[in-house]
Amino acid sequence: MERARRIQRLSSAIFTEMNEHKARVEAKGRKVINLGIGSPDRSPAPHIREALARALTRPGIFGYPTSEGSPELRQTVAHWYQRRFGVELDPVKEVLVLMGSQDGLAHLATAFINPGDVALIPDPGYPIYSAGILLAEGEVYPLPLVAERGFLPDLAAIPGEVARQAKLMVLNYPNNPVAAVADQDFFRQVVDFAREYGIMVCHDAAYSELAFDGFKPMSFLEIPGAKEVGVEFHSLSKSYNLAGCRLGFIVGNAEVLAGLAVVKSNIDYGVFQAVQEAGIAALTGPQECTGENAMVYQRRRDILVEGLDRLDWHIPKPKGSMFLWAPLPWGYTSSKEFALDLLEKAGVLVIPGIAFGKMGDGYVRIALTQEEPLLQETVERIKEAFKY
Ligand SMILES: Cc1ncc(COP(=O)(O)O)c(C=O)c1O
Repeated sequence: MERARRIQRLSSAIFTEMNEHKARVEAKGRKVINLGIGSPDRSPAPHIREALARALTRPGIFGYPTSEGSPELRQTVAHWYQRRFGVELDPVKEVLVLMGSQDGLAHLATAFINPGDVALIPDPGYPIYSAGILLAEGEVYPLPLVAERGFLPDLAAIPGEVARQAKLMVLNYPNNPVAAVADQDFFRQVVDFAREYGIMVCHDAAYSELAFDGFKPMSFLEIPGAKEVGVEFHSLSKSYNLAGCRLGFIVGNAEVLAGLAVVKSNIDYGVFQAVQEAGIAALTGPQECTGENAMVYQRRRDILVEGLDRLDWHIPKPKGSMFLWAPLPWGYTSSKEFALDLLEKAGVLVIPGIAFGKMGDGYVRIALTQEEPLLQETVERIKEAFKY
């Protein structure tokens, strides 16, 4: 069976390879500490689980929902946006419910990218950004994210010819994998740049509620004029630990949402109504659970960063996301070689930075998705394995 050319351009080779190596290490009898996958290990707050359970017992709940999301949830999102960011949204035209933000990130390009169209995509970046473009047969122009610039792309370095050709740009703060955050100044530059070149901005804010040390990430849509040029993606996966329920949303520019809605209404039937009701409970209920959640990740961050620092592995403390973006220690120059050594010698799985793009090769991504005792054991194992 010959696969379509568009999927031949996709690659998930390193993730698959790392999992195969993990299975091999475990077959030898060693339990691997998995800091690879970014899936939340914690549960939703009780009031969210109860809303889901209550909805399940209602007659009629198992019917097809609608692709664009229930009017109640869209209204709830608009209220949450107003409370959380001070941004006004029309719940009908400027809010669309997604089957996880991945759904929208994957399908946006189907709605807006023609074969050969150029998209500006961060490198390193969360893989679906480029995969979505490649599936639409577009061309990816990488925006390098480097430590010296706080992992913010240098918009002035994009050649004018590329900027004029580009149709959309994807940004993501707090960022996966580099765990950096953005400020108002940067988002202002983005809006100016997008206006000048007529580029659609897609800001992925999946980690907007996972921030540390009192930092509160802003919405890109807080910048005047942002709604004219762009949209923002949110996810209930990380903020409320609902990853398996598949619930997210996109807000902002009505024309962009209408285009995406055309694609979605042709290919899906929307999010299970019970899950949408859990989402309403999450967004309208007590918000302390998001703060507690962030505190848990902050403590995990500190255990690893401080523990590894004592082994001369110096990793900056991120202000947000659920990851550490760790420069390769002890003279290593290949992220894959280091990640494989860490797995073989210490039984600790992390993702080589190269999996997220060429610019990621000097780093590994460590997910903070295990409880504190296992993170302490991680430090001990690394100490033992590398003889510190
Ligand atoms: C940056 C980023 N965006 C989007 C997603 C997708 O989240 P979901 O589809 O669960 O909303 C993830 C998941 O790990 C992510 O890290």
